[in-house]
Amino acid sequence: MTKPAQSESAVFPPSPEMTAHAHVDAAKYDAMYAASVADPEAFWGEHGKRIDWIKPFSQVRNVSFQPGNINIEWYGDGTMNVAANCIDRHLATRADQTAIIFEPDDPNEAAEHISYAQLHRRVCRMANILETMGVRKGDRVVIYLPMIPEAAYAMLACARIGAIHSIVFAGFSPDALAARINGCDAKVVITADHAPRGGRTSPLKSNTDAALLHCKESVKCLVVKRTGEQTTWIDGRDHDYNEMVLEANDYSRPVEMSAEDPLFILYTSGSTGQPKGVVHTSGGYLVYAAMTHEITFDYHDGDVFWCTADVGWVTGHSYIVYGPLANGATTVMFEGVPTYPDASRFWQVCEKHKVTQFYTAPTAIRALMGQGKGFVEKCDLSSLRLLGTVGEPINPEAWTWYNDVVGKGKCPIVDTWWQTETGGHLLTPLPGAHATKPGAAMKPFFGVQPVVLDPQSGEEIHETPTEGVLCLKDSWPGQMRTIWGDHDRFEKTYFSDYKGYYFSGDGCRRDSDGDYWITGRVDDVINVSGHRMGTAEVESALVAHVAVAEAAVVGYPHPIKGQGIYCYVTLMNDQEPSEELRKALRTWVRTEIGPIASPDVIQWAPGLPKTRSGKIMRRILRKIAEDDYGALGDTSTLADPSVVDELIANRAKT
Ligand code: WT7
Repeated sequence: MTKPAQSESAVFPPSPEMTAHAHVDAAKYDAMYAASVADPEAFWGEHGKRIDWIKPFSQVRNVSFQPGNINIEWYGDGTMNVAANCIDRHLATRADQTAIIFEPDDPNEAAEHISYAQLHRRVCRMANILETMGVRKGDRVVIYLPMIPEAAYAMLACARIGAIHSIVFAGFSPDALAARINGCDAKVVITADHAPRGGRTSPLKSNTDAALLHCKESVKCLVVKRTGEQTTWIDGRDHDYNEMVLEANDYSRPVEMSAEDPLFILYTSGSTGQPKGVVHTSGGYLVYAAMTHEITFDYHDGDVFWCTADVGWVTGHSYIVYGPLANGATTVMFEGVPTYPDASRFWQVCEKHKVTQFYTAPTAIRALMGQGKGFVEKCDLSSLRLLGTVGEPINPEAWTWYNDVVGKGKCPIVDTWWQTETGGHLLTPLPGAHATKPGAAMKPFFGVQPVVLDPQSGEEIHETPTEGVLCLKDSWPGQMRTIWGDHDRFEKTYFSDYKGYYFSGDGCRRDSDGDYWITGRVDDVINVSGHRMGTAEVESALVAHVAVAEAAVVGYPHPIKGQGIYCYVTLMNDQEPSEELRKALRTWVRTEIGPIASPDVIQWAPGLPKTRSGKIMRRILRKIAEDDYGALGDTSTLADPSVVDELIANRAKT
């Protein structure tokens, strides 16, 4: 995790060229920000007009953060359709412009340029296929696809007919997929035969088959052909997309949706329990995704925008599909990984498609930095104008490498802090308005009111510099509305620790210039290669194994992943620790959750540090994993303090 740098850290002011070119300069930011918090109704009423409404809204917001009555509504009486906003309304002026550039995993396979007119036809056909399969407004559709254009068609087809999509990252296991299909009671799951990635393929259809064994028999499966490899087939349940698309009608009428009708559900990890279905709705989400895409990335007509995320994460939803397409942009969809066939791949794709804005995660930057700058320097990156980072705190070394080697000191870096829950950027420097600092998320976006609270008293800290927990004082249009099927959990998770505020789960520091630095999660959520994970999920996977009696999982600093997964495992009495068992547990967690949850370290723990009431003291386990024994703090309340010495003596190498 990044240590927040001091305020005397390096400061990079915006260049005069960027300031002249950008949508927003410093004076405009100040004026707009002041207006956005002084009169949110007026501000968001005006900016709500950036999308097309079928029936214009008359109410801008209806928000309460008060316990017992958590309610978030934006543009509540307006009606619109998200797909029509992302496609149809551009047809008059951009029918032949490329909407999506698809860059396949294998660089020898041709890239595909999909125009807005083509996108329209393909999305309509997919919409008609889904309707043939019985999907109607309000029904849920799970999407479990590789990073292929059909993933975007599927999202937009759902939006067109008013179905609610829930994307499951293709790296998740059959069990995780089943839990999500059942969690939202999906009618249809859309998958592909196989997913190529980094020169290997993963068997999505057979994963889906395995998942569907645990789901209602009525769930249907739509299968997209990607590699053409053989898969099993169940007549009646499985539907062949490539066959149906030949027959499907080219037009589907966009359904009139209320601004507050759900657009998608996206499962994300919390500090306790199973992943929760974050619900985003239509109007406010789209306004916010489009506006942040345009302003944070300084997007202009003719630019080629590339966000390297997967559509399985919120970053892909907001900044590969919805934000860019709502703005009539050209957006790149990349199926591969940064290091295949070699560590030049990202930069070759930038050169090939003349990418102007490039948005990636610190973990990718660190991995590529380790390969040396030769891989970057052999590519022509002169088209790049702006760089972005997201997903975890970026360490100053990686920031500096990104700035110097990739950006040649000419591209501002927007370090965007946000979450699945927030729909779009909340803290970020704006490229023409703000200086940047290596590792700082800097400033609130319009309408965003960050506050730093004292974690103990819950009081707002007004002094600066300061450090505490990061909360938001008021709503913004892209905010999640509820947890699918569990509004109480929504209130409990985000609005009950600090009453009257939305609690982000992150710690932060405000420096003497008033700029924000994210210091990382303050709850039991860890961030592994930009993937968010609840330590509780890994623990429950571990204890589900017959050999395991008890497990405690914490994060520890990892040079490339940001955080690694450190597991303390107590075995059943009849079990002997062995290298073999360690391997077996690793494989077990990978199949229970997915490869992203694979434990980095497993330490055998004959006992875990517990209070007399039996609560595991994770603070101590974190310190041992971090190799920071000096700061163990008070261990006198432990039932058996000698456990700690034992754990320290046998600490695993990290
Ligand atoms: C958590 C949210 C939203 C996009 C991808 C992750 C961490 C996100 C930053 C950043 C420091 C960051 C936070 C946050 N995070 N962006 N720029 N600097 N930390 O979405 O999976 O919902 O995770 O990622 O800890 O709470 P997510």
